[in-house]
Parts: sequence; structure tokens; C-alpha cells
Amino acid sequence: MKSSNLSVDDIAAQVKGGFWKGIFFYESVDSTNTLAAMLSEKSGLASGTVIISDEQVKGRGRLGRAWISPPGVNIYMSIVLRPGIPPRDGTLLTVAAALACALALRDKSGLRVSIKWPNDLTVSGKKIGGILTEVRSDPDTINLAIIGIGINVNIVERDFPDDIRTIATSLRAETGAYYRRSDIIIMILKELEYWYKTLKGEGRRTLLEEWKRLSSTIGKDVRVVAEGETFSGVAEDVDDEGFLLLRLPSGSVKRVSAGDLTVLR
Ligand code: BTN
Repeated sequence: MKSSNLSVDDIAAQVKGGFWKGIFFYESVDSTNTLAAMLSEKSGLASGTVIISDEQVKGRGRLGRAWISPPGVNIYMSIVLRPGIPPRDGTLLTVAAALACALALRDKSGLRVSIKWPNDLTVSGKKIGGILTEVRSDPDTINLAIIGIGINVNIVERDFPDDIRTIATSLRAETGAYYRRSDIIIMILKELEYWYKTLKGEGRRTLLEEWKRLSSTIGKDVRVVAEGETFSGVAEDVDDEGFLLLRLPSGSVKRVSAGDLTVLR
């Protein structure tokens, strides 16, 4: 299974140890998240299954947006986990994934990749990747989590659509170098295994402290659109469940689980 710079055999050979159960590669899919959900429904995919596609024709971003997914250049992958954690801890899965990606990208490129709450990966304020986590839960437990990861790797600036060219970037656009996608995926999977195990092993404070170290959000004046409302204030901290604590001008603190955040200064 090879596409340019992407070899599932290489990935499978490098991520040994039993945590990763199967790595599946497709040339083209609608969306790796949609496919992972469908296959989980049909055949109950094991926790630790990874679905990678060279291209997505209906790539999905957060808040119903499209995710630009041309062939041959970027990473589109979905990770199936069965965490068995309480639904209130669901945000921590995204925190773990954002951290894993930021650390992997820093390691492979040397760029100062930051995390913009809740799950944007940024370089110099431009978006280089994003995470879309979709879960299926009982009242007490998350039974299935599909963590979708999109990273702009070798796409060049002129190939971004006009409306996102000024706000998006890629590893190649930032450094001029060309990257093997397999190497980046291997590093992301290794980091994610580590941080997921940390989370499950009651290491949430360690996880959140590391997330805060890489965050470009904490301490900044921000505007957040959430629950159909707009809130402005200072992003003071994240709490133990990964919610953003926003200090409002009134002095009160608003706890936000998800939303669209703009750093004002
Ligand atoms: C965001 O809006 O920032 C989240 C983007 C997530 C994109 C990835 S690409 C792989 C997976 N499949 C999808 O359709 N979306 C996610």
C-alpha cells in the first residue's frame, strides 16, 4: 500500500507494541471519519484501528465546514478508540490528539507549532492542521471515539483555495522542505499512544500542563463563539476536563467546552 511518501508497511513496522491494531490505507474516500464511523457500525472496528486516505472528496472540518483534502500531499487519518471514559472527559481525547500532533510536527519540522484552543494546530497564527473528534456515548461512558486528524504537509500556498490562503499554511510552505508523510504519521501515532495512556492512567494534569505549554491561547484576550453566543474575555486557563476558563469583563468566569476562538491580541 504505497502512495507518494506514504507507506502503510513502513508505518505498521514502526509502531510496534500491540496498541495499534490495524492500519488501513485508501486512495480516495469521502471522509476518513465518515468511513471509520460506518465500518465501526458494521463490523465493530477494534480500538487502535487507523484509517488513512490519500485524498478525501468530502473532508469535514469542525462546525460543519469543509476540509480541503487534495491527493498526494497531506495527511487525512482517523483513529478509532474505545476509551470507556465518562462523557464529561471527551474533550480530553481532543486535547491528547492536539498535543500528539503538535509535538510530532515540532519534532519533524523544527517549527514552533502551537495549539489554539480547542484543537487548531497553528504556526505563526496560521492553521497547519485540525482535529475533528466524534464520539458515541452511553450516559456513563464513551464507547467509541473517532479522532480525525488533518495536517497540511506538502501542499503549496497556490493550491489553497483563495478564501483560506491567508489563514492556512503547511509544513512545506513554512520551511520549503518536502516531508515523508509516513514519518509524520509514525510520530503522531507514537505520541498519541503515550498521551492516551497518560490520560487513561489518571495523568490528566500532566496532559493538560503539557497542552498549556504548547498553547497559544492561555493568557490572551480572545473572542469565543459558543452555544450561539459571542463571549469576549481573557483565556485564563483550562480546567481538569479540558474546558476553557474565560474571564469575562464582569469578572465572572465562563466555562466553555467547544467553540470558535479568535485571539484578539
Ligand atoms: C478542523 O475543522 O479544524 C478539523 C479538521 C479535521 C480534518 C480531518 S481530515 C481526516 C478526518 N476526516 C475528516 O473528514 N475530517 C478529519
